[in-house]
Amino acid sequence: MSHSVQAHLDVAPAAYDVAIRKFIPHYEEMLSRAVETLAGLVSPKAHILDLGAGTGAFSQEVAARMPEASLTLLDADPAMLEQARGRLASLGGRAKFLRGSFFDPLPACEAAIASLALHHVHDLSEKRRLYGNIRATLPTGGVLVNVDITLATAPALEKLTRTGWAAHLVACGDTEAEAYARFDAWAQEDRYFSVTEELDALQSAGFAHIDVLWRRGPGTVLLAVA
Ligand SMILES: C[S@@+](CC[C@H](N)C(=O)[O-])C[C@H]1O[C@@H](n2cnc3c(N)ncnc32)[C@H](O)[C@@H]1O
Repeated sequence: MSHSVQAHLDVAPAAYDVAIRKFIPHYEEMLSRAVETLAGLVSPKAHILDLGAGTGAFSQEVAARMPEASLTLLDADPAMLEQARGRLASLGGRAKFLRGSFFDPLPACEAAIASLALHHVHDLSEKRRLYGNIRATLPTGGVLVNVDITLATAPALEKLTRTGWAAHLVACGDTEAEAYARFDAWAQEDRYFSVTEELDALQSAGFAHIDVLWRRGPGTVLLAVA
C-alpha cells in the first residue's frame, strides 16, 4: 500500500515534526511516558517495531533511552521514511527502514510501538485484525505500546474533548474555524475510537493484559502485553 502524509495533513515531510506538535496536544509527554514504560518492560536488547514510524520521532526517543535496542521503522510513505533515515543515520545498523503496511506480515520483534498511526484504520473489525497481526508477531510477554487519539462515544463528552483540542490549535495559531476545518479534513482518513473500543479490540485480538498508561484530553497511551 502507499500513503502520503503530505496529501493527508497538507504538511511537507520536512515540516512534519513541527506540525505534529501543533496538531496534537501533549505529543512529547505521551512519547516520553510510552518510552519510559517500554524501557521498564522489555529487555534492553529488544528488537522493536515502530508501526507507521513516519519521520522517526518515537524511534529516536526509544533509541536514546535504550542504547542497546534495535529498531525497524515501518511506514507506507517513502517520503516520511526518508526523513527518518536522515534523522536516525547515526544509529547505523541498529535501525532498519521498511516501506510497507502494518497489515503486511510483520517482522518478528519483542515489542511493537506506534504513535498517531493506527488511527488510520477505519473499521473496528480491521482494527481487531491489525491488533491480531501485531499480537502474532510478538512472543508471549512481548508488548505493544500505542500512543494515539481516542474520543468518547458519548456525544457531549466527545464535543467537550474536541473543544479542548480546538483550543490547543487556536493557542498554536489557528482561528477556531481553521481548527474545526482541520478536524473535518483529517476525518477523511482518520478514525478515532473510544478507549473502551480500543481495549475491547486488543482483548479480542488475544492480548493477555491491557491497560491505559496515560490519558489527557484526546491523547491516550495504551499498553497491551501478549
Ligand atoms: C501522523 S503520522 C505519525 C508518524 C509518527 N509515528 C509520529 O509520531 O510522528 C502517521 C504515519 O502512519 C503512516 N501510515 C498510515 N497508514 C499506514 C499503513 N497502513 N501502514 C504503514 N504506515 C501507515 C503514514 O504514512 C504516516 O507516516
